[in-house]
Amino acid sequence: MFNRVVFFLTVAVLAANLSLCEFVKTWDKSYFASKEAVNWTNAKQACRDAGLELASVLTEKEKTSLEKFIEKNKITPTDKWTGYWLSGIRHRNGTFFWDSTGTQIGEAVTNWQLGEPSNGYHREHCVELKLVDVELGWNDYFCDENRRYICQNIRKEGPHGQDLPDYRFLTENNTLGTIDYSYDDYPLIE
Ligand SMILES: *[C@@H]1O[C@H](CO)[C@@H](O)[C@H](O)[C@H]1NC(C)=O
Ligand SMILES: *[C@@H]1O[C@H](CO)[C@@H](O)[C@H](O)[C@H]1NC(C)=O
Ligand SMILES: *[C@@H]1O[C@H](CO)[C@@H](O)[C@H](O)[C@H]1NC(C)=O
Repeated sequence: MFNRVVFFLTVAVLAANLSLCEFVKTWDKSYFASKEAVNWTNAKQACRDAGLELASVLTEKEKTSLEKFIEKNKITPTDKWTGYWLSGIRHRNGTFFWDSTGTQIGEAVTNWQLGEPSNGYHREHCVELKLVDVELGWNDYFCDENRRYICQNIRKEGPHGQDLPDYRFLTENNTLGTIDYSYDDYPLIE
């Protein structure tokens, strides 16, 4: 209990000093949803500045926890075209990794929306959690666009990701790892 109080206070104090970061609700697993929408890089930094990390989903249990957090706090995006940044990014070689843990996406649990990742314009390299109809799931989206974001407490037990030497590739074209969906089947997918 003591630890948790200290933790929340620390986050509150740090968050208060951040113009980019306005955390709303907390829940048992310590997720935080921002109210402000920023690009992926700034979202990552805002979580870090608060002593947290962008959320990642490594297990089925974590997928459920995150869904519960969103439902319980009624923060589900209502506009089907908006979501929340998670820590996932498409690396240069086309493989998606959780940046905050350095683990490949989809190893134990996968949750892509139908027809995703679509890599629109070959420039959708960041992962958002998005609502389509009633289903929450992952979508690849343009890293330089603004989204709200979800931070989580850093896993004590790890794994912990290392920062890459540079992240410029996030806004560069990349055709690697693009699944060849028929655009006739999914004409409106971003
Ligand atoms: C893709 O690149 C990452 C480093 O960015 C590396 O760890 C991974 O093994 C590579 N995967 C493939 C299939 O080459
Ligand atoms: C990236 O792709 C867009 C459209 O898909 C194109 O307009 C642009 O020239 C490309 N940029 C590079 C550096 O290839
Ligand atoms: C996000 O915006 C910052 C400036 O606020 C910029 O330095 C950074 O490159 C941007 N990131 C992306 C992915 O566009």
